[in-house]
Amino acid sequence: MSNKVIIKNKIKSFTKEINVSGDKSLSIRWVLFSSLANGKSKATNLLMSEDVLAAINAIKILGIKVVIKKNKCEIFGKGINGFKYKRNLKISAENSGTLGRLILGLLVNSPFPIKLIGDKSLSRRDFKRVSDPLSKFGAKFKLQNNKNLPLEICGSKNLKPIYYNEKKGSAQCKSAVIFAGMRTEGLTVIKAKKSRNHTEILSKYLGLPIKVKNKKNYDLIKVKKVNKIKKINYKIPSDISSGAFFMVLAVLTKGAKLTLKDVNINSSRTGVINILKMMGVSIKYQNKKTYKGEAIADIKIESPKLIKAINCPTKYNSCAIDEFLVIFLVAAKAKGVSTFSNIAELNQKESPRLKWGNKILNTIGIKTILTKNSIKIFGNPNIKVNKKIVIKNFLNDHRVFMTSVIAGLTFGGNWKIYDKDSIKTSFPNFLRIINKLKR
Ligand code: S3P
Repeated sequence: MSNKVIIKNKIKSFTKEINVSGDKSLSIRWVLFSSLANGKSKATNLLMSEDVLAAINAIKILGIKVVIKKNKCEIFGKGINGFKYKRNLKISAENSGTLGRLILGLLVNSPFPIKLIGDKSLSRRDFKRVSDPLSKFGAKFKLQNNKNLPLEICGSKNLKPIYYNEKKGSAQCKSAVIFAGMRTEGLTVIKAKKSRNHTEILSKYLGLPIKVKNKKNYDLIKVKKVNKIKKINYKIPSDISSGAFFMVLAVLTKGAKLTLKDVNINSSRTGVINILKMMGVSIKYQNKKTYKGEAIADIKIESPKLIKAINCPTKYNSCAIDEFLVIFLVAAKAKGVSTFSNIAELNQKESPRLKWGNKILNTIGIKTILTKNSIKIFGNPNIKVNKKIVIKNFLNDHRVFMTSVIAGLTFGGNWKIYDKDSIKTSFPNFLRIINKLKR
């Protein structure tokens, strides 16, 4: 089967309601927490993507039984110390930074070395950011080039609690340290720059000895050893990061109106909403509720008459980190120059996304000024693409692929976009929903 999509026509205006797939961060966390719980945990609407299946495979390798029926999943946890460690275990995190980093936090007590591998994209990403703090607990690491996968972790029987100053705003590093703290006698203290807080929310819901104090610019997290985790039945809400592609599709399609059902609107994830509102987009929440500590709502969004350029406040950087690529398309159609600063972390993702965003914008004729950690986008409200465009993203970055599809459907031109398979990592349903909106 062909691994590309061809787009020759802009999408026609639509008024629709859609359900996007389950949240990836919550799906992976549910899998990992359930693997430590006592008894059978059940999830519905679990994201059935390669990243989440890699998490399921990882816990299976550690001796945990998992049963999948359609989009229902059951995990038979054997308690906090229920992993069956053996010699020569090898876990593949495939494309998933979240799995790769979080699981290391759980392996800090492994009596044997465990090998962690990943695909080409994950193997170029920074794992030192997580092996550094986990080494301080007493785990031993061997990393490729001192930084990358494949790596080997060997745990310790005498874990020591640590003080960790998390400065990047990385929920993956923070969560790995929370997991390691859960295995360690004594008090682990984390001063964390604000980032998505699903691990903390789930811990609170489970009644674990993990306390969070929210300060203005950071969170102070205190973690004690966990002895028992109760089983977790969870209906995973929809993923705002997947929803963002359709929000932008609606924003850039004249007259479009879209409702996204049951989306996780945790404020550590809604940077895209705040940024689009600043750009003049009307967005409303309906049917707001709280589910196991997570905020959920239907999101109603309408295409604006005019998109305003913005100087994006850096306070939104971590809560929009996965959405910037597609937000850049909105800036491309804005009236005026938009600036996004302090976003070097974007180049640490599945591919160097700041560079990719810049490349896509230049290809469609939008002027930019790119630095190592910022981009200025010279918007054009009358943007129209009339040429052939080929996008090949060699690191198979799902968000580069999906952003290119949205650009093709809204700006015109004749697009050939390769690496369609990349959507299997986070959003296998993406093209099916696009087709639904075309009908
Ligand atoms: C994630 C955290 C973010 C995000 C990733 C998912 C998580 O990464 O980009 O897609 O589930 O914890 P960082 O923590 O490295 O910023």
